Amino acid sequence: MKNTLSWILILFILVSVLNNCLNSSVQKEINKKTDFMSHLRKLYSSGDASKWPKPILDPESLSTFSEIGHLPDISFPEDNPYSAEKELLGKTLFFDPRLSKSNQIACASCHDPELGWCDNRTFSFGHDRQLGSRNAISIFNVAYAKALFWDGRAASLEEQSRMPIEDQREMGEHMDVAAGKIAGIKGYQALFEQAFGDKTVTKDRISKAIATFERTVKSSASKFDLFIDGKSDAYTDDELMGLHLFRTKAQCMNCHNSGYFSNNKFENIGTALLGEKGQDPGRYLFTKNPEDAGKFRVPGLREVSRTGPYFHNGSMTTLDEVIIFYSKGNPEYAQKRLTVYEEVTLRSEKSGMVRMLELSDEEVYQLEAFLRTLSTKPKKISLPELPK
Ligand code: HEC
Ligand code: HEC
Repeated sequence: MKNTLSWILILFILVSVLNNCLNSSVQKEINKKTDFMSHLRKLYSSGDASKWPKPILDPESLSTFSEIGHLPDISFPEDNPYSAEKELLGKTLFFDPRLSKSNQIACASCHDPELGWCDNRTFSFGHDRQLGSRNAISIFNVAYAKALFWDGRAASLEEQSRMPIEDQREMGEHMDVAAGKIAGIKGYQALFEQAFGDKTVTKDRISKAIATFERTVKSSASKFDLFIDGKSDAYTDDELMGLHLFRTKAQCMNCHNSGYFSNNKFENIGTALLGEKGQDPGRYLFTKNPEDAGKFRVPGLREVSRTGPYFHNGSMTTLDEVIIFYSKGNPEYAQKRLTVYEEVTLRSEKSGMVRMLELSDEEVYQLEAFLRTLSTKPKKISLPELPK
């Protein structure tokens, strides 16, 4: 009897020692993780990006790399300087459907401030409800884009603004006719006078005013901006880890960098679908250089959770879909990479910077949580009164 009791006692002691050991190693693991996270939190919210962990970058991206951070102040070109009067005229024109043939479609029809300055559609519809063939790009932070459109075919906002007016599937109006209509509206005279010194309406002045207004459509400070400025509790652990993944394992910063979250370059991530229904040779259409087949402009990612669906063809509706696509390195099928376009053989060569990342489900979730911190709350904007 005494013997059995001693054995039970020994067994009991053994089990509790073992249990203790296990608990303390689990606890150690937890402590290690907590230490790592609080270390990361301290570095990233230090207000000094030079203290951040080193990013993981490809040598190819170094020449165009600049660290993510705040958006710099907006700069206006010398030949079209800012004035509040010009901004107001530009805003009025942006919302005025009389620039279109039907007098029904304004720039704001497809770039709606309540829909993240785009239209949240796969493809926009324009004149006579015709469908376009590309996803409308938000004009949020467009002042930071170096060339416009998915293929970069417009070099400046001044040059860009007449293109949708004249596009048969968008506003379908001749620019001279559009300018003539604006000149015939009495109420515009004072606005032109205040903006340009006299009441003459020209195509050039219309373009300059619209461009000035567009440059002012800038994101206010997001959760990301607050966090890196020192508000260390602004981020959850998932958002923090997402930021770290974006800069390291997920290698997004090879292309999405600077305060605008784009290197302003044209890259091929294997979305051209050459030889398939819906093929789009991308930048090739503008440059006619076969090496540009399948390249699209790297879009900025601020406000991205408000500007879906995604890619030039709106083919992805959610951010986790986009992240999983990158995680798999976009396995592009050989037969979707070749086409003969206007007698030229085009081959789409995916960038070497798009590769298998093998992100876990948790990491996909964390990256998405981070991307969402780049958006700001929708703001009510006051609509301009249209002159009569
Ligand atoms: C029918 C819908 C529609 C209308 C109307 C429209 N847009 Fe767009 N906008 C688009 C689409 C679609 C794209 C992308 C096209 C492409 O890249 O080929 C775009 C792209 C842009 C871009 C490029 C943004 C960037 O980052 O590259 C700007 C700027 C822009 N539009 C301004 C305007 C202005 C100014 C007007 C009015 C004069 C206007 N849009 C009218 C659909 C529209
Ligand atoms: C090789 C350069 C490159 C890398 C690396 C890259 N991207 Fe992109 N990204 C692009 C290009 C180019 C597009 C536009 C493609 C298109 O429209 O077909 C794009 C589009 C996107 C879009 C859609 C935005 C919109 O407005 O439609 C999101 C979101 C995005 N990328 C997130 C990421 C994330 C997250 C990573 C890292 C996992 C990443 N990207 C890595 C070049 C890159």
